[in-house]
Amino acid sequence: MKLAGRVAVVTGGAGGLGGAIALGAAEAGAHVAILDVKGVDEAVAHLRSLGFKAAGRVVDVRDGQAVKVAIEALSAELGPIDTLIAAAGGSLGTPRDLDDISEDDLDLVLDVNIKGTFHCARAVLPFMRQAGRGAIVTFSSIGGRSASPVTGVPYAAAKAGLLGLTRRLAKEVGGENIRVNAIAPGLFLTDRLQGMFDALPEADRREVLDSIPLGRMPNIQECVDPVLFLASDESSYITGVVLDVNGGRFMAG
Ligand SMILES: NC(=O)c1ccc[n+]([C@@H]2O[C@H](COP(=O)([O-])OP(=O)(O)OC[C@H]3O[C@@H](n4cnc5c(N)ncnc54)[C@H](O)[C@@H]3O)[C@@H](O)[C@H]2O)c1
Repeated sequence: MKLAGRVAVVTGGAGGLGGAIALGAAEAGAHVAILDVKGVDEAVAHLRSLGFKAAGRVVDVRDGQAVKVAIEALSAELGPIDTLIAAAGGSLGTPRDLDDISEDDLDLVLDVNIKGTFHCARAVLPFMRQAGRGAIVTFSSIGGRSASPVTGVPYAAAKAGLLGLTRRLAKEVGGENIRVNAIAPGLFLTDRLQGMFDALPEADRREVLDSIPLGRMPNIQECVDPVLFLASDESSYITGVVLDVNGGRFMAG
């Protein structure tokens, strides 16, 4: 019960990794609030059916005012939010290859990943200050740490940019007992990504598989547990770092 007594917001909490993390946070003792553009009612109903205290709002994280209103309402409903797991993001169905990428694709990927994380972090900070503690986990990716063949330039830029956001924010709020860290998952084959991976050229699929020293694809729980580690007091003296969770496919120098 490493998150007992915590109130955790999981953005993208109706998605593949976010849904598993929301369940993991609830199992670890947190009250869980889900923000997503779709699937919120189903995700909240699922957690409640298992006996957990949960709530949610349909919100586009690109809309700073809507995020603020939702976070205020969820804090009133569940208690002051002290944990933010900002999983909303991804390449969001945009093309991988440069010539196929439109300006709208670029805006979408940068706005959801970077501005969305910024809006959510800023909206939860007053409640973390009220609680006297806080933990924020941002979502980078192996695609922001190295030149992964799976995703394109906008995603690489967004996920690398999130590392700057993470470090700078960690410096700004550290004195208030609020920690900010990034997770950088390798490829986790959620239902959505299985299709994307299957559609890659064989050479690119092989490049990914052959470059994993642990020699296997991960299961989803192997992302959930490191996220809960960063969200909990188990990482109480860790802030401003990025945790690579990729089977060794990218090793930081
Ligand atoms: N699955 C992987 O292999 C992998 C690897 C590295 C990083 N990541 C990152 O992990 C996070 C979760 O990825 P996933 O694989 O679970 O993807 P997913 O598509 O299953 O989940 C993303 C969720 O975000 C929601 N979302 C999208 N745009 C939104 C918006 N504007 N406002 C609010 N919610 C929005 C979607 O509805 C979805 O439920 C993403 O940030 C992704 O980039 C995933």
